[in-house]
Parts: sequence; C-alpha cells; structure tokens
Amino acid sequence: MEVSNHYVTIKHDINGSPAESDFELRTATLALAVLGGSKDVIVKNLYVSIDPYQLNRMKSDSSSRIVSNSSTRIVPGQAINAHGVGRVVASDNPEFEIDDFVVGLLGWEEYSVVKGGDTLSKISSTEFPLSLYAGIFGTSGLTAYVGFFNVCKPKKGEKVFVSAASGSVDMLKDQLGFDNAFNYKEETDLKSTLKRSGYFPDGIDIYFDNVGGEMLEAAVANMNAFGRVALCGVISEYTDKGRKAAPDMLDVVYKRISINGFLLVDYLHMFGEFMSIISEHLRHKRMHALEDVSQGIESVPSAFVGLFRGLNVGKKLVELDKHRVMLEMTMWTRSSCNTRPSLDINLMHYVKSIPTAVGDRVRSKTRWTRVLDLTRSLL
Ligand SMILES: NC(=O)c1ccc[n+]([C@@H]2O[C@H](COP(=O)([O-])OP(=O)(O)OC[C@H]3O[C@@H](n4cnc5c(N)ncnc54)[C@H](OP(=O)(O)O)[C@@H]3O)[C@@H](O)[C@H]2O)c1
Repeated sequence: MEVSNHYVTIKHDINGSPAESDFELRTATLALAVLGGSKDVIVKNLYVSIDPYQLNRMKSDSSSRIVSNSSTRIVPGQAINAHGVGRVVASDNPEFEIDDFVVGLLGWEEYSVVKGGDTLSKISSTEFPLSLYAGIFGTSGLTAYVGFFNVCKPKKGEKVFVSAASGSVDMLKDQLGFDNAFNYKEETDLKSTLKRSGYFPDGIDIYFDNVGGEMLEAAVANMNAFGRVALCGVISEYTDKGRKAAPDMLDVVYKRISINGFLLVDYLHMFGEFMSIISEHLRHKRMHALEDVSQGIESVPSAFVGLFRGLNVGKKLVELDKHRVMLEMTMWTRSSCNTRPSLDINLMHYVKSIPTAVGDRVRSKTRWTRVLDLTRSLL
C-alpha cells in the first residue's frame, strides 16, 4: 500500500527570527512496506514535539551540530527529524509489531521510516495519555529533571530563579512550588527587578537559564557567593546572532559563581529514575502536565514560530491524527477506568479536536465519563 506523506521542510537556511514563510509543506509517496532483514520500522506519527533547538539546526552555521543525530544540520527541502509519538504501521523489527505505540526520533511528517528501529522505544503502558511521551515524559521533562537535580544540585533553603517559566522545560520545575513570578516583557530594568521585595532581595543561589541575553546578565548580577547557573538554553540568542550575554566577569570571579552548560544527551541514563518519579507525581496528582497542542501537519510552522514569540503556554506539540487519538482515548478510558490522573490534558486535546458545538459541551463538563460518551458518539 502507498500513502501520501506530507512533511514540513525549510525553503532555505534560517539565520534570524523564523517566519512561517520560511517553511513549506511537501508531499512524497511512501510505500508502507519494509525490506526483509532491514529491521526498519514505519510509524504513523500521532504527536510531534516542537522545540526551540531546531532553529539552531536551520542556521548556516551553529555549534549545535556537533552533538547528536537529532542536532545535525537541517537541509532545505529535506524532512526534519523531531521527537514524537506514533503507531507502528509496518515493521521488520522483532521488537516492534504493527499497532504498537512508540516514542522516539520521528519527524515533522505524517509517517516516518525509522532505519533499524534504532531510535524507537515501545510504549507498553496505557496508564498515561500518549502525548505525555512527547512532552513531560520526553526530552522536556527529562531536561528539567536532570538540569535541576544534577546540575543545580539544590540545597534546602536556597533561592532559585527560573526563566521562561511558561515553557515546557519549566512546567516541571514550576510544580516543585514557586513563590512569585514576573513578566519580563513588562520590566525595563531586569537587574533591579530581581532585587525587588518579593523576588530576590537577599540574592539568588541558583539560576536555571532558558533564555540567555539580558536575563542571564541580570541574574549573575544578583547571584550570591557560590551561586550556580544551569545553562539549559539561550533562546533570546537563537534568533539574533549578534546578541550575546555579557555577564560581569568580576561578579563571576569574586562571587565564585559556577556557570554550567548542560545537554540532555549526557543524562539519558537517568531516564528510568526520572520516569518512575514523575509517573508517581502524575498518578497522585501532585503534578500536572501543561500542554499546548496544535492540529495537523500544516500547523507545524506556526507552532514553531510561536515559540519565539512566546505564544505557547506549556509543552508545544502538534497532533497529527486526531481520529486515532480519539480512538486511543476511548481505549485507555476503558482499560484504566476512573483512575486517570491527567484527564484535563486529554480533555483539552479532545476539545480542540472536535466541532465547536460539541467542544462547548465538553468544556462545561469535566468528568471523563462524559468525554468517553461523546467520543463514542463521534466514532
Ligand atoms: N540543554 C538541553 O539539553 C535542552 C533540552 C531541551 C530544551 N532546552 C532549551 O530549554 C529552553 C526552553 O525550551 P522549551 O522546549 O521548554 O521551550 P518553551 O519554553 O516551550 O518555548 C520557548 C519559550 O521561550 C520564551 N521566549 C521566546 N523568545 C524569548 C526571548 N527572546 N527572551 C526570553 N524568552 C523567550 C517564550 O516564552 P515567553 O512568553 O516567556 O517569552 C516561549 O514560550 C530553550 O532554550 C531550549 O533550547 C535545552
């Protein structure tokens, strides 16, 4: 059987702020068949992750290239690999059967051919919604976890500052409990903002940085002696090559501040520990995954561009096969009964997937049984 595989690509290198016009949707014909002995797997993608680091892959030149397969240069016209969740539709790999749900390096495309099945893992549990495997159980969640616990090494009583706290990496840290927040867009002088009463009048011990630029400079200026900066990302510098944080190095020396860049790829061995801890938090509703989901392959460019304009609140995903997701939701509600920990996430997906009139009915009712009834009536 052959299918039309729609995929998103870039028209040319992108060296500044991305615009939707930098992208195009292309179509290729794909045979849903795998060669014997290849161990290849073909996946129908259900959710793909939208991440800021992809912009560095789209540049003519970037230091991000040196790290791994997922950070190599994106060539204009070619498909773009990205983390995601999908369902196996063809497999020559004994580890994966047709209809298995999988997570791994897929792509901004409707179907992905995964050579040798190398970058895939099977999702065996039906306890949590599939989308979580592309978000809180995926790179975003693990980055937050290892960055905070392994890099920042927090000690009781320390004062912690996190930037871009409405984003996906930070949804996890925020839920550890924060005392205050401010909108950096409404502030003219970040150094004095941080000193303000209610924020850090006694200085910062740990700064988890996602943005770089002036925020990093302001944080360093307010750090206490032996403060630690975990440099997760510098999104404000991704879109502007000339913009570079210049923290006061005398501060760094005299306050003995550590500035530690880190990459998730160095902590993948912690995935098991991370999964068991975060699953427990979700199961007992001590934590809630915040997702921001767009629909359809054609929404990938706007979803991606929106990251650099602060349009997302929570983990940005694109859902590629809403019919399948509704079916999946019916399956897990049947199998897991009323112990679902993350109903409102699914409800949110569901509301976005169905016609407005029905969506309004769902919005007014938050019980999963009603969602299930509506699902059944639509299938
Ligand atoms: N080290 C690693 O292994 C690793 C792994 C994953 C992600 N990261 C990095 O972690 C950071 C967050 O990634 P994410 O996936 O969680 O993205 P995200 O936070 O979901 O999306 C990006 C957010 O950054 C904010 N932002 C955009 N432009 C900005 C600017 N010029 N100045 C300040 N804030 C800006 C926006 O929120 P506002 O509304 O606040 O502007 C936006 O919501 C990124 O720098 C990413 O590259 C690193």
